[in-house]
Amino acid sequence: MRILLIGAPGAGKGTQATLVAERFGITHISSGDLLRKHVTEQTAIGRAAKAYLARGDLVPDAVVMDMLRKPVVAASASGGYVLDGFPRTVAQAEAAYETARGLGVAVEVAVFLEVPAAELTRRLLARGRGADDTPEVIAHRLEVFESKTRPMLDYYADREELITVNGARPVGEVAWSITVQLQRVLKRA
Ligand code: AP5
Repeated sequence: MRILLIGAPGAGKGTQATLVAERFGITHISSGDLLRKHVTEQTAIGRAAKAYLARGDLVPDAVVMDMLRKPVVAASASGGYVLDGFPRTVAQAEAAYETARGLGVAVEVAVFLEVPAAELTRRLLARGRGADDTPEVIAHRLEVFESKTRPMLDYYADREELITVNGARPVGEVAWSITVQLQRVLKRA
């Protein structure tokens, strides 16, 4: 199965992607985690991405696409993937579709975790991951989501591949909702 998890910063993409990966026996691929790993290891990708991450801006598409190509193809060959944090713009979604279709690894279903802004801010401030969890950078990340990522939801809705889940409930309830809806999609396939 090939799944996307879409949501604003703090919506619970990482938390739920881990559970979905376990439940369906697929690979969890997080663009944010991979970018942070590259920054820590000071690779060429990490050096290109570092300043964007610290500001809460999106890293250029070419850098992200280049980083994800291999892991996505490898995961597709071994049962599937749940992709957390990618794509994040209509342009990324379109480019990913073109590349993935050619390779036979295109996404089957996109899950949007809907959470009110006040709850997102509360969660991120409570977590305090580091440079990008300060009040100013959190506010900017939420603006970037609204202007760049939210319009992408229409792209998946138009293709009838979008499931929306209320992500403002406790972790277990959100996970249950996602599982039930994904099982429905699996039955239809
Ligand atoms: P990324 O790592 O993807 O961060 P994000 O989207 O800002 O999301 P977070 O990881 O902060 O939150 P999450 O939704 O995963 O929630 P989580 O489960 O952690 O991206 C970071 C940066 O990388 C971006 O700003 C950008 O610069 C760059 N980047 C990444 N992808 C890119 C791309 N495709 N293109 C360009 N640039 C890219 O949960 C958050 C907190 O809430 C945790 O403490 C958790 O315990 C808690 N929590 C989770 N669920 C619940 C719940 N149901 N109830 C209560 N608390 C909960």
